[in-house]
Amino acid sequence: MKKSYQSLEVNITNNMKQVIHRRLSNSILHLGLIVLLAFTTSISAQDGDPAKGKSLFNANCAACHQLDKKMTGPALRNVETRLAEEEGLDREWLYAWIRNSAGLIKSGDAYANKIYNEYGGAAMTAFPQLSDEDLNNILAYTAEEKKAPAAAAAPVAGETATANSGGISNEIILGALAILFVLLALGLYLVNKTLRRFAQVQNIEIPQTTRTPLWKAFVQNQFLMIVVAIFFLLSSAYFVYGYLSQIGVDQGYEPVQPIHYSHRIHAGENGIDCKYCHSSARVSKHSGIPSLNVCMNCHKSIYQVAEETQQEGLREYGVDYNAEIKKLYAAVGWDDENQKYTGETKPVKWIRIHNLPDFAYFNHSQHVTVAGVECQTCHGPVEEMEVMYQHSPLTMGWCINCHRETNVAVKDNAYYEKIHEELSKKYGVDNLTAAQMGGLECGKCHY
Ligand code: HEC
Ligand code: HEC
Ligand code: HEC
Ligand code: HEC
Ligand code: HEC
Ligand code: HEC
Repeated sequence: MKKSYQSLEVNITNNMKQVIHRRLSNSILHLGLIVLLAFTTSISAQDGDPAKGKSLFNANCAACHQLDKKMTGPALRNVETRLAEEEGLDREWLYAWIRNSAGLIKSGDAYANKIYNEYGGAAMTAFPQLSDEDLNNILAYTAEEKKAPAAAAAPVAGETATANSGGISNEIILGALAILFVLLALGLYLVNKTLRRFAQVQNIEIPQTTRTPLWKAFVQNQFLMIVVAIFFLLSSAYFVYGYLSQIGVDQGYEPVQPIHYSHRIHAGENGIDCKYCHSSARVSKHSGIPSLNVCMNCHKSIYQVAEETQQEGLREYGVDYNAEIKKLYAAVGWDDENQKYTGETKPVKWIRIHNLPDFAYFNHSQHVTVAGVECQTCHGPVEEMEVMYQHSPLTMGWCINCHRETNVAVKDNAYYEKIHEELSKKYGVDNLTAAQMGGLECGKCHY
């Protein structure tokens, strides 16, 4: 009797559990459906992917339209809402307009004719190839909130930032290993102690060790000592060498700058002299990055780039040049509409690319002015660089090789005539290399 009663109880609780279980899974299912439904409706309400829309917009429309500024065509931010509210036009109208505006104008559509005349009869390109989905994406992009300009020109304060060349992760790994090791040792010690206490309680006798301790045996074994010593020396030499040879070799380093500044456009296409901006290269140790006031000499009037340049930037480099000029304005606090400075500046933190370690001395004027070396010999084809990068390795070997190979330009260089005469007699040669002038002496490059 007692037994069956018990089993009944078990049965009841099992049944109850099942019911609860079913209820629970049902409500989870419902909840899931609701979430799914909400999700799909929110997607169809939002309609289109603004990220895809942005690239379609840049590729097809940016030649004539911007989101917030009237250009060849009207500003397109929130165009769908605007046309719906002011003109009662729907998305179908937009499809028709974008695919073939000329057709819509000819059909006598009132608004099409109105806007066409407003823009002095400028014809918009037809885009019959764009699918509904493409157009939805573009419209989703135009419906995006305007981004705060602060986000664009984020880095502030200071002049130049030194790039961090990494290496932290290794330290973290080493640290973690060390901690692990300590924990392991502690664990073993505790296990040992517990076992001993356990043995004591159980009255088990631990045989006294009579053999020599491990460290003594180790010290007495000379062969082992020598092997370990050699191993230790070799491995530390290996690490020291590895560490030294990686110092500052950043060839090809190409960071993203806070403002996309193209040397190709400035020094290349527009032929602006390097020294217009890097004026101190001629006269001092450092070449320096120009202050933004130098930029404004030109950019007060150049508020946007030529149409083809803008197109090329979007197509070839994925850069909106006009937006980059806006960043410059934001940084110097230039209000382009009212043509005046607001006084609100946000200094640009250019990321430094070429950077010798502190213990090496390099002087620009000595190379550019005295030796007459072209900037490009060391910095590469700067006038072709859309984004600046480090062309040369900047290692000691690189400096020394050039000093061995390059003849000092002594001709018409009064400073050297006398020294040249004496030294060329000493070496018995006509031409002196920088090396023979003392360009290999450690002290010349190291403080
Ligand atoms: C060759 C220049 C050009 C290109 C490229 C161009 N448009 Fe236009 N767009 C215009 C002009 C000009 C107007 C003003 C009406 C007119 O003159 O035809 C206009 C008008 C519009 C309008 C009506 C805006 C309003 O406020 O009434 C929309 C919408 C539009 N364009 C969307 C687009 C989209 C989307 C693209 C890219 C797929 C695009 N346009 C590409 C020149 C262009
Ligand atoms: C209109 C101004 C301008 C002109 C002209 C110009 N530069 Fe620059 N240069 C800059 C700016 C701004 C930067 C910092 C941004 C960058 O690195 O792209 C820079 C950076 C550099 C750097 C990298 C500096 C670093 O951080 O290590 C080198 C090298 C350089 N320029 C060389 C040249 C050479 C060579 C020329 C001539 C062929 C030239 N520049 C012409 C403005 C100019
Ligand atoms: C001597 C005149 C001059 C100076 C100085 C000058 N620019 Fe320019 N800038 C131009 C010209 C010309 C263009 C290209 C216009 C075009 O193609 O339509 C241009 C284009 C640009 C662009 C768009 C293309 C690109 O490079 O991304 C940016 C951004 C820009 N300049 C930033 C700067 C900055 C930052 C400085 C200062 C370091 C500067 N400019 C100094 C003349 C100048
Ligand atoms: C003999 C090789 C050589 C020549 C020639 C040379 N540079 Fe440099 N440049 C360097 C080295 C090396 C550095 C890194 C200096 C440092 O970190 O102290 C550098 C750094 C720079 C920088 C970064 C800022 C600075 O001063 O550290 C700029 C900008 C620059 N060079 C521009 C120029 C321009 C412009 C010319 C031509 C007028 C030029 N360089 C000629 C080797 C050269
Ligand atoms: C493109 C070739 C070239 C490269 C690369 C080069 N130099 Fe030089 N350097 C010269 C020449 C040529 C002279 C001789 C200048 C003169 O007439 O005083 C010179 C002179 C010097 C001097 C003065 C030597 C003396 O006798 O007073 C120093 C210091 C120096 N270079 C440092 C460096 C350092 C550091 C580097 C590498 C970061 C470097 N150079 C890379 C060509 C180069
Ligand atoms: C022409 C200039 C120049 C001369 C001469 C020169 N060095 Fe260097 N040295 C450098 C530069 C530049 C670096 C930094 C290289 C780097 O960042 O990779 C350097 C780095 C070093 C380093 C660090 C290890 C390494 O490879 O990065 C040592 C050590 C060194 N030099 C020793 C010497 C000694 C010793 C002499 C004399 C025999 C000497 N240097 C002569 C330019 C020179």
